[in-house]
This record gives sequence, C-alpha cells and structure tokens, in this order.
Amino acid sequence: MPAPHPLAVALSGSTDGSLRAEAEACATRWGLPLLLRAAKAPLRGLLDEAELLVVFGEDAVSLRDRRGHVRGGAGLAALRLKEIAKGRTDDPLQRVGELVAGERVLDATLGFAQDARVAARLVGPSGALLGIESSLPLAVLAEATLRREGSTASAPIEVQRGDSGAVLRAMPASSVDVVLFDPMFGRALAAQPGFDMLRRLADPSPLTPQVLTEARRVARRVVLIKSARYSPALRSLGLRHEWASRSAPVVWARVAALSR
Ligand SMILES: C[S@@+](CC[C@H](N)C(=O)[O-])C[C@H]1O[C@@H](n2cnc3c(N)ncnc32)[C@H](O)[C@@H]1O
Repeated sequence: MPAPHPLAVALSGSTDGSLRAEAEACATRWGLPLLLRAAKAPLRGLLDEAELLVVFGEDAVSLRDRRGHVRGGAGLAALRLKEIAKGRTDDPLQRVGELVAGERVLDATLGFAQDARVAARLVGPSGALLGIESSLPLAVLAEATLRREGSTASAPIEVQRGDSGAVLRAMPASSVDVVLFDPMFGRALAAQPGFDMLRRLADPSPLTPQVLTEARRVARRVVLIKSARYSPALRSLGLRHEWASRSAPVVWARVAALSR
C-alpha cells in the first residue's frame, strides 16, 4: 500500500457540483490531491489515504484527522465584528492598534485568521491584508474559509504560506502600515474550540528580537504583538502590554516602526 499523503482535499457527503468545483480549485491552488470516496463510504475511510484532510462541506470547511477535527470560520472574531458593527470602538485593534480605513496590514501569524478578519473590517475595502501562515494545513483552511465568506465591507485577505521572518526580510522598508503578531507563546487557549488541533498543527516558534526588528522596518506605523496576560513572552522581548481590563486573558503590546 502506498504511503498516505500528508494532506489531501476531500468532500463531505454532498455531491453538489459547486462544492466539488470549490474543492477542486483548492486542490489545484495548493498542489494537493483531491480524494473522492465511493457512494455512502464513510469519510474516515479516506484517512487511510491521507493523514489529514481538508474537508469541503456545505456549512463549513474543516480539517480532520484520526484524532479530531476543527471547523474553519470567524470563531470569536464574529462577536468582535458584531460589536464593531454596533459602533463600539474598544476592540484591541482599534484601541491599541488604531487601525483606520485604507491601511495595509500584514498578519505574520495568521492561524484561523480571526484577528485578520477584524483587521480587514477596520481597514475596509480600500485597505489590504496579507496573512502569512507557516503551517500548510492551517494556511489552506484559512484561505478556503475566507474565500467562501468574502465580505464587501472588509479588505480582501491574501493568504500566503511561509515563514513570516523570511517574508519580512524580503519586503521593502515601510511597505505596510501595521504588522501583527500572535505567536503560540505556549499560551493556554484551551477554551477555544479547535485548540487541540491548532496546537498539533501550528508552528510553535516564538517571536524573536530579530524578527521583531524586521517587522519594525517593514511597518510604516506600528507593530502589534498579542500575548496571554500571564506569559513572560512580552517581558522577554523587553516589552510591556498596553492597558487591558483586568478580566482580559489576552493583552497587546505596541512598538513604533523604526522610521518613526
Ligand atoms: C496563536 S495562532 C494565531 C491565531 C490568529 N491570531 C487568529 O486570530 O486566528 C499562531 C499561528 O501562527 C503561526 N506561526 C507561528 N510562527 C510562524 C511563522 N514564523 N511564520 C508564519 N506563521 C507562524 C502558527 O502556525 C499558528 O497558526
């Protein structure tokens, strides 16, 4: 028996033509095999042919392996977007990041693209979002989910698979307005659905002082770094977080661009 593919695209139960076209387009874009199963055969049978599947279903795109699954989607960002739509101005990307319409933002740790969705809404259709993700399955999931959602109120989010340190090194100075980081930092995100799978698939590299300096060169205005409140990660970079309510488990630090 041939060795299983590390990652493949599959369809959920539906044989809907547009769903199949969406799955095929994703497989082509990322150079992944598309696995089809026989009628009524369970999806888990495909896990003999691939270790991990990107599954296109009618209601969601998800990642599935033998240990679990996680659905792509806005997750907690949906609540943040609702509050912004009601006119609230205290989202950290507003309060700390001061993102405004038309800005270009590079999200250097895209993950499920929750922060990227909020940033894309704040900079609006005249802005631009580039999301970098080093884990191939997470990049594929984010891209497939964002492509399906589309939003005319938000900037388009371009997803690139790569190491953000390398991407930043290749970019000219002041070529975006804002760079965002939300590294794994070993933080306890246990309350988030899909956390277990994120931890298994995500790149655990911490943010290094060298990459932070590159980000300060590439940003025209500011670099934002998100961290768990009780993590020593910000302190180890010589940073302090901005004010956050006592109950907030997550905090943000801001560092001015080098050109400022
Ligand atoms: C905590 S998650 C980010 C969650 C994201 N802020 C969100 O709102 O969904 C961190 C992500 O950064 C990715 N990552 C870590 N180091 C990276 C690097 N050097 N380049 C690109 N992505 C990286 C991990 O694979 C993981 O998906």
